[in-house]
Amino acid sequence: MPPNLSLLIFLLATMAYRSLAVGVNWGTTASHPLPPAKVVELLKSNNITRVKLFDADPLVLEALSGSNLGVTVGIPNGLLRSLNSSKKAAQSWVHDNVTRYVSSGDSRVKIEYVAVGDEPFLRSYGEQFHPFVLGAAINIQTALTQANLDSKVKVVVPCSFDSYLSETSLPSKGHFRADVNRTMIQLLTFLSKHNSPFFATISPFLAFQQYKNISLDFTLFKIYTKAHNDSRRMYKNSFDLNYDILVNALSTVGFPKIEIVVSQIGWPTDGGPNATSHAAETFMKGLMNRLRSKLGTPLRPRDPPVETYIFSLLDEDQRSISTGNFERHWGVFTFDGQAKYRFDFTQGSNSLVNAQNVEYLPSKWCVVNNNRDLSNATASALNACSLADCSALSPGGSCSNISWPGNISYAFNSYYQQRNQSADSCDFGGLGLITTVNPSVDNCRFLVQLNTSLSDTLHPASVSQWITLLVTAILLLLPRFT
Ligand SMILES: *[C@@H]1O[C@H](CO)[C@@H](O)[C@H](O)[C@H]1NC(C)=O
Ligand SMILES: *[C@@H]1O[C@H](CO)[C@@H](O)[C@H](O)[C@H]1NC(C)=O
Ligand SMILES: *[C@@H]1O[C@H](CO)[C@@H](O)[C@H](O)[C@H]1NC(C)=O
Ligand SMILES: *[C@@H]1O[C@H](CO)[C@@H](O)[C@H](O)[C@H]1NC(C)=O
Ligand SMILES: *[C@@H]1O[C@H](CO)[C@@H](O)[C@H](O)[C@H]1NC(C)=O
Ligand SMILES: *[C@@H]1O[C@H](CO)[C@@H](O)[C@H](O)[C@H]1NC(C)=O
Ligand SMILES: *[C@@H]1O[C@H](CO)[C@@H](O)[C@H](O)[C@H]1NC(C)=O
Ligand SMILES: *[C@@H]1O[C@H](CO)[C@@H](O)[C@H](O)[C@H]1NC(C)=O
Ligand SMILES: *[C@@H]1O[C@H](CO)[C@@H](O)[C@H](O)[C@H]1NC(C)=O
Ligand SMILES: *[C@@H]1O[C@H](CO)[C@@H](O)[C@H](O)[C@H]1NC(C)=O
Ligand SMILES: *[C@@H]1O[C@H](CO)[C@@H](O)[C@H](O)[C@H]1NC(C)=O
Ligand SMILES: *[C@@H]1O[C@H](CO)[C@@H](O)[C@H](O)[C@H]1NC(C)=O
Repeated sequence: MPPNLSLLIFLLATMAYRSLAVGVNWGTTASHPLPPAKVVELLKSNNITRVKLFDADPLVLEALSGSNLGVTVGIPNGLLRSLNSSKKAAQSWVHDNVTRYVSSGDSRVKIEYVAVGDEPFLRSYGEQFHPFVLGAAINIQTALTQANLDSKVKVVVPCSFDSYLSETSLPSKGHFRADVNRTMIQLLTFLSKHNSPFFATISPFLAFQQYKNISLDFTLFKIYTKAHNDSRRMYKNSFDLNYDILVNALSTVGFPKIEIVVSQIGWPTDGGPNATSHAAETFMKGLMNRLRSKLGTPLRPRDPPVETYIFSLLDEDQRSISTGNFERHWGVFTFDGQAKYRFDFTQGSNSLVNAQNVEYLPSKWCVVNNNRDLSNATASALNACSLADCSALSPGGSCSNISWPGNISYAFNSYYQQRNQSADSCDFGGLGLITTVNPSVDNCRFLVQLNTSLSDTLHPASVSQWITLLVTAILLLLPRFT
C-alpha cells in the first residue's frame, strides 16, 4: 500500500473515531443519591468519556477532578432571572463554578460546556423563563470571556423535545413551537456568533406517544419496519425522523447548518406502557448501531449526528412525575448503579459494569401486618406514596399486578426506606410491620435504600481542609502566646 494512502486511511480512521462521542446525563434528583466517587468510578469502568450535569455541585465536581472526563455544568432555571439582570451574578457563577475547577492543575475538571437552564422552554413551564434565557446566556458568555475561558468552554441552552414539532410527523413540516419561535431565533443568532452547538432533546419514546402514525417497531430501530416517505426522503427509524424535524425547524428560521448536539435521549424501564427493560435494551442497542454507522440523515446526509448524551445514567426517585410515572426510571442503571440490561458504551460487545461496593441500609423491609384490620390501609398507603416513590405500582409498571394488600406493603416499604428505615416510619397507625424476609415478587423489587451517611468516607479534600483550618487556627492563636 502506498504510504500516502495508508496515511489517508489512518487520518480518516482517527477522524471517524474521534467523531462519535456518547456521554451520559448524571442527574441527582434522588432521595439517596449514589455517592459521587462511586458514580465517577462507574463512568470510568464503562469507558464513558463525557458527562452532563444539571447543576454545579461542589461534591460532584470534586469527584470529577483529575478524571479527564468532558463535563457539562448546568445552571438551574431558578437562577436565570438573576443571571439575566446581573452581570456580577454571572461573573460570580463562572468564578465559583467554572474558573475554580478548570484551572487547578492536575486535579482540574475538563469543563466543556455551561448549560444555561434545564430545558427552560419545556411547554409545561409556560413562558416564565423565556425572557431571561438569552440575557443569562450572554452574561455567562461575557464572564467566560473575561476569565479567558471562552476558547475552552462553550455556552449552550438545552432545548426540550417539545420546543420543536411537526403536526403530521413529517420532517419537511418541522418547526419551532410558536411561543418560542422569536426567542429561538435570538438564541440561534447568539449561538452561531460564538460557534456553539444547539443542544436539543430527541425523544422517540415521547414521539411514539404523541404521533399516532409512528409504530413501536419504527421507534425501536427494527429493520423490517415500513419506512416513512416524506416527499421521496425515506425514514427508516424514529430517531432520524425526529432529528430531521429539528433540522427543518432550524432551517425554517435560517440556521440550516448549525451543529446539533443531542443533549438527552433514552428509554425508561418502568412506570408506564412500553417502558420495559426489554424495549429499552432494544432501543439503546439500535441507537448505538445507528450512531456508529456514521450515516447522515436525509436532510443532513453529510453531517451525521455525533455528540450524544444518553438520558440517563441512574434512576432518580424524586423526579417530577407530572409528565408520567416513567420519569423516575430513565436510568441505564438502577438508583444503586446496577445495569438493567445488556448494552455497552464502547464499540464491541462488552456488558455494562455495575457500581462496586455499594453501601445499603440493613436488609429490612416494611410490610403491612396482615393480622390487623386493613380497612383503612389504603389511605395510609396513598399518603406514603405522595411522599415516597410508588411509580412502579402505576399501570404498566413492574409492580402493577401485585395484588392487594401487596401494593399497600410496597407503599409502606417505599416510605420506610426513604426515611432511612427509622422504626417510626413503619408505624402507619399500627398497620406496619418490619421484616427481614425480602417481600419482592417476580419483577417487582421491594428495594432497600442506600446508606448515604458519609461518616466512613473521609475525603482527601476534607482532610486538607481540616489541615488548612488547623494551620490557620495556630497562626491566629500564635501571637497571643508571644
Ligand atoms: C473499556 O475499554 C477497555 C480498553 O479499551 C476494554 O478493555 C474494556 O473491555 C472496556 N470496558 C467496557 C465496559 O466497555
Ligand atoms: C434582563 O436583563 C436586562 C439587563 O439588565 C434588563 O433590562 C431586562 O429587563 C431583564 N429582563 C427581564 C424580563 O427582567
Ligand atoms: C455555583 O453553583 C452552585 C450549585 O449549582 C450554586 O449553589 C451556587 O449558587 C453557584 N454559585 C454562584 C456564585 O452562583
Ligand atoms: C401521519 O399521518 C398524517 C395524516 O394523519 C399524514 O399526513 C402524514 O404523512 C403521516 N406521517 C408519516 C410520517 O407517515
Ligand atoms: C418563526 O419565525 C420565522 C421568521 O420570522 C417565520 O418565518 C416562521 O413562520 C415563524 N414560525 C412560527 C411557528 O411562528
Ligand atoms: C414517496 O412519495 C413520492 C410522492 O411524494 C412518490 O413519488 C415516491 O414514489 C414515493 N417513494 C416510495 C419509495 O414510496
Ligand atoms: C405498548 O403499549 C401499548 C399500550 O399499552 C400496548 O397496547 C402494546 O401492546 C405495547 N407494545 C409492546 C410491544 O409491548
Ligand atoms: C450507615 O453506615 C455508617 C458507616 O458505615 C454506619 O455508622 C451507620 O450506622 C449506617 N446507617 C444505618 C442507618 O445503617
Ligand atoms: C377507619 O377510619 C374511620 C374514619 O377515620 C374510623 O372511624 C374507623 O374507626 C377506622 N377504622 C379502623 C379499623 O381503624
Ligand atoms: C405480572 O407482570 C409481570 C411483568 O409485568 C409478568 O412477568 C407476570 O407474569 C405478571 N404476573 C401476573 C400474575 O400476571
Ligand atoms: C392497591 O390495590 C387496590 C385494589 O386493586 C386499590 O384499590 C388501591 O388503590 C391500591 N393501592 C395503591 C397504593 O396502589
Ligand atoms: C437519611 O440519611 C442521610 C445520611 O445520613 C441523610 O442525609 C438524610 O437526610 C436522611 N434522610 C431522612 C429522610 O432522614
